[in-house]
Amino acid sequence: MDTISLARGVPAPECLPVAELADCARSVLERDGATVLSYGPSPGYGPLLEWLGQRHGVGTERLFATNGSLQGFVFLAQRLAPGRRVLVERPTYDRPLKILRELGAEIVPLACDEEGLDPDALERELERGDAAFLYVIPTFQNPSGRTLGLERRRRIVELAREHDLLVLEDDPYGLVRFEGEPLPTLFELSEGATAYSSSFSKTIAPGLRVGWFVLPPELAADIAARATGTYITPVLLGQATAYEFLARGLFEPNLERVRQLLGARRDAMLSALDARLGGATISRPEGGYFVWVMLDGVDSGELLERAERAGVTFVKGTDFGGDPDSLRLAYSFVSPAEIDEGVGRLASALALAATA
Ligand SMILES: Cc1ncc(COP(=O)(O)O)c(C=O)c1O
Repeated sequence: MDTISLARGVPAPECLPVAELADCARSVLERDGATVLSYGPSPGYGPLLEWLGQRHGVGTERLFATNGSLQGFVFLAQRLAPGRRVLVERPTYDRPLKILRELGAEIVPLACDEEGLDPDALERELERGDAAFLYVIPTFQNPSGRTLGLERRRRIVELAREHDLLVLEDDPYGLVRFEGEPLPTLFELSEGATAYSSSFSKTIAPGLRVGWFVLPPELAADIAARATGTYITPVLLGQATAYEFLARGLFEPNLERVRQLLGARRDAMLSALDARLGGATISRPEGGYFVWVMLDGVDSGELLERAERAGVTFVKGTDFGGDPDSLRLAYSFVSPAEIDEGVGRLASALALAATA
């Protein structure tokens, strides 16, 4: 029996526009090969930076395109986090937690509910003292799939302004929306006062390694210097290929295709959970990759061992700083039929755990 992975937060192979990217990469190399195959400026490939500047309404001095957005997070955290308090959602994406821990930051998890980060919890922490920054994933959060409500967004922007707090909004999933109305980003609500990061990993392909940051100019310059000291040059071939994909008008149709593919998987995940995991509390994301499940007292670490024996995997909530009875299910990688089968296996493992 093959194990079904509800753990992997990566796009299914069908989501990747392989033929189009091959064609884009070939034209880039034929047209501009000597530039993109050499060392280049750390902030990124010029035409891509111009495109991003127009999209976000900022000058290129605030932009930094990096080898995936996680690499940019490392640079930012190296500069800001050591020995300081960093505010995060509870739960939050596990890789930044690990990076912050290794850099010796004091991680302060803030309470969240179905509507995302609780602004009162943020306010209480800000009254206790200052912080290097707040790291927040407001839309289709990893791991919970939750989206921060509009009123909360406004309040968080307001609190950041009052307390002179740097907010880093990580937004790789925002465009991967299957239904409902998009909400303004914190960056838009603050008229560009907050910092913003995103990536083409979920909207084109993660292997291109193209992420970007919009930062205060002084931080963008600091990060460019760190990038030069770390990898000398960004991967211009990846950035130029992404730019070619955008310039040819392939981005929107591809995004629509990805939304259809992943929307069907989200539907399969929610119907299978509703049918088989009746007693659990389940998040109902309108986009992104993940569903968050709270099991009301069942330890998800113990459940994981049973689930693996039954042929299905997931990530336990404690990896993200969540409660022991929570877990993350990803629907992005596997087919609707596998999702159905995987949730069935999870339900039998859970039934065994309940009777143990
Ligand atoms: C919230 C969040 N931020 C950042 C990343 C990293 O993306 P990238 O491939 O751009 O490094 C991920 C990847 O899963 C993510 O979930």
